[in-house]
Amino acid sequence: MRIILLGPPGSGKGTQAQRLIHRYGILQLSTGEMLRAAVAAQTPVGLKAKDIMAGGGLVPDEIVIGIISDRLDQPDAARGFILDGFPRTVPQAEALDDLLRKKRLKLDAVIELRVNESALLQRVETRVAEMRARGEEVRVDDTAEVLVKRLASYRALTEPLIHYYSERRKLLTVDGMMTIEHVTHEIDRILHAIGAVEPKNDRQV
Ligand code: AP5
Repeated sequence: MRIILLGPPGSGKGTQAQRLIHRYGILQLSTGEMLRAAVAAQTPVGLKAKDIMAGGGLVPDEIVIGIISDRLDQPDAARGFILDGFPRTVPQAEALDDLLRKKRLKLDAVIELRVNESALLQRVETRVAEMRARGEEVRVDDTAEVLVKRLASYRALTEPLIHYYSERRKLLTVDGMMTIEHVTHEIDRILHAIGAVEPKNDRQV
């Protein structure tokens, strides 16, 4: 299974990816997580990405395309993956098309999580409060001020992907305002309906 989760910050991409990888035994490829790890490790990529991420902008296409290209070359990617946070621009989507074409792989679906903007800030605030209560370090971009910029980046650069994948008949939209369980159930239903789920992988948790 090869799918993309598309949606604005706080729409539930990471939450749903986590639930689906356990259910189907595939990989979650989150460029946000990979970039945060690079920032923490102070790698050359991390040093370039740090300030851009903290300000709510998008890291240059060539950097994230390079990260994903290297990751898809690793043997474990052959068992299927959920892309969470990639692609985020039309050039990234075109690069992904090229990568998959060269590997003779097909994308099953792009699942757009649609959530009202007013709910996004609430969710990010809840995440921050929960992380603080657990004594975890909160993300530097999880402030109301930076969220506005992340949303602006989403609208300007990522929303055009809705049209891109709709034209290619890959787009399926899910109401991300439902409960976490209902959203997972709906994604599951879609994956079965399009035949992306093989019965032998269909392990319920
Ligand atoms: P990234 O890490 O991808 O962040 P994001 O897209 O802003 O998304 P979030 O992680 O904030 O939210 P999410 O949609 O995963 O929601 P979640 O499940 O956590 O990117 C960070 C930065 O890295 C970018 O700004 C950019 O700088 C850079 N970057 C990354 N990829 C890039 C790329 N391809 N190109 C260029 N730059 C890139 O849920 C949020 C909260 O809501 C949680 O608390 C959760 O419990 C709750 N929640 C989830 N679902 C529900 C629900 N249905 N009902 C109620 N609450 C819910």
